[in-house]
Amino acid sequence: MKNLSTNQIRDMWIKYFKEKNHHFLEPVSLVPVNDPSLLWINSGVATLKPYFDGRLVPPSPRLTNSQKSIRTNDIENVGITARHQTMFEMLGNFSIGDYFKKEAISMAWELLTSDQWFGIDKDLLYITVYEEDIEAYEIWTKEIKIKEDHIFKGGKDTNFWDVGQGPCGPNTEIFFDRGNEWDKNNLGTKLLKDDIENDRYIEIWNIVFSQFNNDGSNNYTELPRKNIDTGAGLERLASIFQNTPTNFETDLFLSTIRKVEKLANNEFKYIYNNYQNIDTNQQKINTAFKVIADHIRAVVFAISDGVFPSNKDRGYIIRRLIRRSSVYGRKLLINEAFLYKLVEIVVESMSYFYPYINEKKELVKEVILEEENKFLKTLNKGYDLLESIIENKKFVSAQDALLLFESYGFPIELTSELSSEKNVKIDLENYYNLLENVKELSRKARKSDKAWNKQSPILTSLSVESEFVGYELDECESYVNFLFWDDKALQKATNQTVYAIFDKTPFYAEKGGQAADNGFIIDENNNYYKVIDVQQGPNKQNIHTIIVDGEINLNQKFKLIIDKDKRHYTMKNHSGTHILQAAIQEVLGKEALQNGSYNDENGFRIDISYKRPPSISEVKRIHNVIEREIKNDLKCEVIYCSLKEALDDYNALALFTEKYDSTVRVIKFGSFSCELCGGTHVKSTKEIEDLLITNIESKGSGLYRYSALTSYSAINNYLNNLQNLFKEEVEKIREKVISYKNVVSCEKILNKLESFNKIKLKKDNIDEVKVLVEEIKEENRKLQKEFRDLSVENNIKKYKNTNFIKKENYNEIVLEVNDLDDYETKVLIDTLQNKHENLILHIININKSTYYVSVAKDLTNEFSAINIFKNVTSHCLKGGGNQLLAQGKIIK
Ligand code: ALA
Repeated sequence: MKNLSTNQIRDMWIKYFKEKNHHFLEPVSLVPVNDPSLLWINSGVATLKPYFDGRLVPPSPRLTNSQKSIRTNDIENVGITARHQTMFEMLGNFSIGDYFKKEAISMAWELLTSDQWFGIDKDLLYITVYEEDIEAYEIWTKEIKIKEDHIFKGGKDTNFWDVGQGPCGPNTEIFFDRGNEWDKNNLGTKLLKDDIENDRYIEIWNIVFSQFNNDGSNNYTELPRKNIDTGAGLERLASIFQNTPTNFETDLFLSTIRKVEKLANNEFKYIYNNYQNIDTNQQKINTAFKVIADHIRAVVFAISDGVFPSNKDRGYIIRRLIRRSSVYGRKLLINEAFLYKLVEIVVESMSYFYPYINEKKELVKEVILEEENKFLKTLNKGYDLLESIIENKKFVSAQDALLLFESYGFPIELTSELSSEKNVKIDLENYYNLLENVKELSRKARKSDKAWNKQSPILTSLSVESEFVGYELDECESYVNFLFWDDKALQKATNQTVYAIFDKTPFYAEKGGQAADNGFIIDENNNYYKVIDVQQGPNKQNIHTIIVDGEINLNQKFKLIIDKDKRHYTMKNHSGTHILQAAIQEVLGKEALQNGSYNDENGFRIDISYKRPPSISEVKRIHNVIEREIKNDLKCEVIYCSLKEALDDYNALALFTEKYDSTVRVIKFGSFSCELCGGTHVKSTKEIEDLLITNIESKGSGLYRYSALTSYSAINNYLNNLQNLFKEEVEKIREKVISYKNVVSCEKILNKLESFNKIKLKKDNIDEVKVLVEEIKEENRKLQKEFRDLSVENNIKKYKNTNFIKKENYNEIVLEVNDLDDYETKVLIDTLQNKHENLILHIININKSTYYVSVAKDLTNEFSAINIFKNVTSHCLKGGGNQLLAQGKIIK
């Protein structure tokens, strides 16, 4: 058996298919374009759907690629099994209406077995085919001469490739036999025949005879052409050619694993000698290494392709992968951020084929480090809480899981996995119900909140103390010292929404433009209640809106915990508000004044009064100033002083629409920004990471609303969505251009489309790309009109020369047409009316059963189109018009 590195295998694959006249396609982003049915590119063919279903013409009918792909349906299996990978590379060859079964099978066989290529011993290869596919069976047995005991028939579950929307069809799979030593029970080919999960026969290649299209609802239609779609897992081939027990000991992962050993101070080792007899304890240690090595690779590629950790969609998966790795790192006693230190090694092992990840690595490191740190801050507390729940309750309730998710950042999948490791059940079903309930209750409660704001008598006279401790703490213990609802003080609240005041609280109440914190309160029996809003009452106590799914009492003790993710992003945005305000003043001048702002975890907006909106170059300068000050990493200083000192000594910016106490709080970022502010802020400007103004709109009377985002993740998600939006628009136009490009001259639009293809949307070229997309749209409108005019011209040609019959005091044409639409008919009417004088024109459209009467302007003293129309045909026509033109449908 040849010993081949991963790069040699990939190179050989591509070389082979190039020699067989296949066009090589560079790998594309993991994020699908124009394909809402897919979260990730999940196979080689996923990138080629438009070629397969005929929407686009491929550069060649024969294609080959090596495509990074992500499948996330069983992340929990990664690290436990030998061959599950989150991100993997799929080698493929494709025929779009070119060769079919016979050639696809012969080429696969030649590449696998010829000494010039992979040179695998034929006897070690086994085949499965779809049971109804006689043709494939015969090609294998009669032409390739596979022995009967090396080929098996399978049903739809194993031998029909179908993944919802897109191309699909029967397949044939090729397996490699790793020998008896991987077959403890000596079952031999029964493993294959009965499709039993095993380590002996490794599927290395799947050849799909792709002849149907699934519309997404399992309606199958024959594709216009029969295609071939194949996929071979590069990691598996590497494991075979490098003779390793699993994918993880290949050159793709081993260097990462060795680096993790070092980061764990060599206290734990990844051991794979005598692989089948490794004890359970070592297996668990190996799993931790495998999980980390797999996940970090997927994370590096996903972030490089513009996916950033978040609570939604792709971003959520990346967050889960980072957090899952972090937890496994902790199992190796690595208790600090370490994943970012693996980026370098992943880049080294992968950049031969993916050089672009080299350029992204610094950003990738920063994003991972930030996410790790954020999680680590709460990991230990969350972990301890989960351990104690597992230990004491032997059951993880829906509320436990919700608390772990919302306050400690434990994705539900992680909580579920950690519990199942300890054989403890988790109430997943109710978790999802609870999540829905809480959302629903929050929606309802939100409608009614702030009802007390209207000078509730109960509140204006309320003197209970409530201290805000949220500048320093995100959790604290506290007592309920006031409960009320509907303007009535309560002793307890049972299964209802209630307003509560605590003697102290880490929850920030909405004010000064900063959104309120959300979170939980927990009683001594571990019952949790969600805090969905916090507002400040007339006497400055923070009033919490709480959904009580159970009972809480006056004077009861609780632990109050805020949603740290929400606070974290809100802080970045609040500090971003100050920095943007200062940058606007630096660029536009001191008269550009803030007139209100709002920030929460999703972004911020700030209203600036100024005589005009900023120009594109001023916006660029504002961005540059902000970048400069983020780089300068200005520390956030908090100063308490008198209003006078704040204004005179610090020159603080104050909004005089707000009321200030005798002691005010000043937030200073170096000498760059200084504002009176009660909000929560980052420790220094670097924590903002980045800032992007996404929109500026006029609010009337010299007021301009700037909307903006901070943090790499929010900005990159925004850019990706915008890029996809542009791409969708442009792709639609591209398809149209194809339909008219042989008729009108499209050079200009094609050049613009080409430039669009080359541009990657970035923070500093948004305006440029917007302009380009607008130009493409405009050009398309022009060309469509030209195309339409030409085809109208062409269609009416044969009727244009119709001559009139002279009547007493007018000329008349009665014309039957059968292939014009309404627009074309009207152009014809105009043309004939322009050509002849004093014309009354009748047009009957045979196909469409329509009738038109047109009367020349000069005749309207004597004739009227609508009258003629009515007189001639009132009994069989529906329609209307005026003196010049009337038209209708013949309804006989
Ligand atoms: N598209 C086929 C697969 O992913 C080849 O297995």
